Amino acid sequence: MVASAQKREVVVNLYRPNAPLIGQCLETYSLVEEGAPGLTKHIVLDLPDPNFRYLEGQSVGIIPPGVDAQGKPHKPRLYSIASTRYGDDGEGRTVSLSVKRAEYVDKETGQPGVGVCSGFLTDLRAGDEVMITGPAGKTFLLPEDPNANLILVATGTGIAPFRAFIKHLLEEDPNYQGRIWLFFGVPTTSSLLYRGDLEAWKAEHGDRFRVDYAISREQQTPDGKKMYVQNRMAEYGAELWEMLQQPNTYVYICGLKGMEDGINSVMAAVAEQAGQDWNKFQRELKKASRWNEETY
Ligand code: FAD
Ligand code: A2P
Repeated sequence: MVASAQKREVVVNLYRPNAPLIGQCLETYSLVEEGAPGLTKHIVLDLPDPNFRYLEGQSVGIIPPGVDAQGKPHKPRLYSIASTRYGDDGEGRTVSLSVKRAEYVDKETGQPGVGVCSGFLTDLRAGDEVMITGPAGKTFLLPEDPNANLILVATGTGIAPFRAFIKHLLEEDPNYQGRIWLFFGVPTTSSLLYRGDLEAWKAEHGDRFRVDYAISREQQTPDGKKMYVQNRMAEYGAELWEMLQQPNTYVYICGLKGMEDGINSVMAAVAEQAGQDWNKFQRELKKASRWNEETY
């Protein structure tokens, strides 16, 4: 059948935790400016196996070196891929990640600590070895319709897959004719990840790419609350609702799990204005792969 013959091939789980691919860190740099609350880094890894191919929206697993408290090798942690299928090298031989260093203060000891894998990744230097599994995931992928309009909603490192989506559609896919609208939530202007890329796309493709930021610690809602992505979306409720009535509009949400409830209550209010039930409408969207979430 032609339709299935044209279906793209999605590679998953080529490398598993018991026999990971050993890659190398090629490059790493901070994605946030001095003074930002927290550290997030862009990390480029080489893929020394040409069969390790991936699509925008997939993730990789990273196994931190060493053992856990039980003396067993650490389990892999998932990271969304921030590069397009061609990699930041343009040859598809690298994979890039956006990793936030998970810092905490231990309640019992009062000592500061850092997450095992995000600590390992944000400490990497060029030349260091990294154990990679995957690729993982086959649902958070771009629609195949070249006229699809995308509504992308990200908090923090949730921007990673969208960097890949936007770069691929605007720079690498000559067939893509749709429009992209990104809502991006970060704590401060100094932590606007990939700001350079976003601003460049806006300047070059302003007719098809729109971005609205929600800078939670600098901006407020009219009733004095922190400006979160869902509050920014609420400002454009009618427009979003109208877009969602078009069968070629697809929504992708990535980042903090906590934003899902917030987005749902905003959308429920918007649906109610139109005399519709959000839960029912969202179920239809999900069934048609038009409402996609990857939160953690
Ligand atoms: P762990 O050591 O596993 O600790 C887990 C959490 O507990 C951390 O937040 C840590 O700070 C906290 N913690 C640990 N010990 C203590 C303690 N004693 N007291 C208090 N708190 C403690 N992350 C990204 O940065 N970028 C991505 O693109 C990304 N994509 C993801 C995609 C998917 C599909 C999923 C499921 C997750 C993704 N994550 C991403 C999250 C990532 O997988 C890890 O969960 C994250 O990096 C934390 O792992 P860790 O090993 O550093 O923390
Ligand atoms: P804040 O931390 O000011 O409460 P990062 O991962 O870089 O910290 O960014 C996550 C962003 O998402 C921050 O701006 C954070 O705001 C915001 N955020 C936190 N909780 C929610 C939530 N429930 N819904 C939407 N955004 C949230």
